[in-house]
Amino acid sequence: MRWLIVGGGAREHAIALALARAGAELLVASPNANPGLERLAKASLRCEATDAERIVAFARSQSAQAVAIGPEAPLAAGVADALRAAEIPTVGPGKDGARIESSKLFCRELLARHGVAGQPRWVAPASVEEVDAQLAAFDRPLVVKPSALTAGKGVWVEGSDFTDRKDAAIYAKSILVQGGRVLFEEKLDGEEFSLMAFVTDAGIFPMPVVQDFKRAQEGDLGGNTGGMGSYSQRDHLLPFLPATDRDRALGILMRSVDALRAEGVPYRGILYGGFMLTADGPKLLEFNARFGDPEGINAVGLYEPGDFSELLLGVATGRVDPNLFQFRLRSTVLKYVVPPGYGSRVQSGGLLTLDEPAIEEEGVHVLFGSVEAAGPGTVRLGSSRGLALLGEASAIHEAGTRVEAALAHVHGTYYVRHDIGTKDDLARRREHMRSLLAPGAKPSPLPLSVAPADAPPSSAGPPEQLAH
Ligand code: AMP
Ligand code: GLY
Repeated sequence: MRWLIVGGGAREHAIALALARAGAELLVASPNANPGLERLAKASLRCEATDAERIVAFARSQSAQAVAIGPEAPLAAGVADALRAAEIPTVGPGKDGARIESSKLFCRELLARHGVAGQPRWVAPASVEEVDAQLAAFDRPLVVKPSALTAGKGVWVEGSDFTDRKDAAIYAKSILVQGGRVLFEEKLDGEEFSLMAFVTDAGIFPMPVVQDFKRAQEGDLGGNTGGMGSYSQRDHLLPFLPATDRDRALGILMRSVDALRAEGVPYRGILYGGFMLTADGPKLLEFNARFGDPEGINAVGLYEPGDFSELLLGVATGRVDPNLFQFRLRSTVLKYVVPPGYGSRVQSGGLLTLDEPAIEEEGVHVLFGSVEAAGPGTVRLGSSRGLALLGEASAIHEAGTRVEAALAHVHGTYYVRHDIGTKDDLARRREHMRSLLAPGAKPSPLPLSVAPADAPPSSAGPPEQLAH
């Protein structure tokens, strides 16, 4: 099977490695020469990931039999539509379906039209003139959210990113005057989790739940980033997330896919729900129309015993054997090695030397992101997330310890969040959730309006099939 991968980050490297393990031949289309992808690919095309015309021509000339699109921008630009029009099976929704990610306003309006529960309170000023009044009327802490894609970096949270509402007003107005849209959303308190699922004609199949670390610095300080690292737990839940809440979140995914279908938008591919587990149960922060980066790397790393190529082809065509949706019962921790200053004033161009065999000996995989080859065992850091180190073990903190040991084999000037996957950090998150649910705090009611009639059993075993 000959696969074309669109995109050049660590997530795409992880997808490519899983396909290569399943015996696939690989082609790559990306703007950057990712050293990990380049050494796997039979041929590669340097182009913008949104350049549908060149990608289709390349896929045809190289006889690609299927395409996996990694990032959101090509999905939003309709690259999957162009490939399907050329009769090449493609993993990822078309432009219409990808709006669930590319327009946060479309997403919130769609879910409101269909009464999908688990939404925070929100408003969206239609013009600059409405901003001040809407802000004044918002009587609780809020977040300011550009509607369009911002690579995870556009959201401003009251109390963290701004304290003076005047700054929020300036930010919101600056988006509106440029022709964009912006949302004010109730600021939710809780713990975040990412629930990704394969959406097929035969049902929705969840992956292990992952927690992403969005803030640039340890202790969840600093600005929002694309994600500094992530972990997943052996039972595919999280230390603070019981199966009942995972299943409620899955219900929200299912209802949302139904809402799209009811409006004539068939959705096939991967759907990623970014949730906040609050005292009132899971609330939706956003949808993504793809594997998360880094979360997809955790999930893909656990894919076994199935054939990943067969799985993705089934997702692309909509016809898939449900037995293929199985993931190992192991914990994972991923840490991104990033250039100094990433998340604020990034210093790119630094050299890293890494001893890959020694890293693998620690039981850790290296995925290449925003780096370029700079000689044997050496890479040059770009301006984004450089190397992902993925460790696996029975317990989360053991996987984290493995990644820390592997970091001893990476030399150079870089930043990494050492707190991801430590016992202390996991305890802090459990305690945070416990304090929100403590007596006196509002109890978490069952959101019966979203509980699917065919809700999965609340076991923590391998993912179950859910018809929708
Ligand atoms: P998004 O791009 O919508 O995932 O937002 C990026 C990050 O901003 C999320 O991962 C959260 O950390 C934060 N965020 C977004 N919406 C909210 C909200 N309504 N309440 C609190 N934090 C939020
Ligand atoms: N890690 C968040 C994302 O993939 O959007």
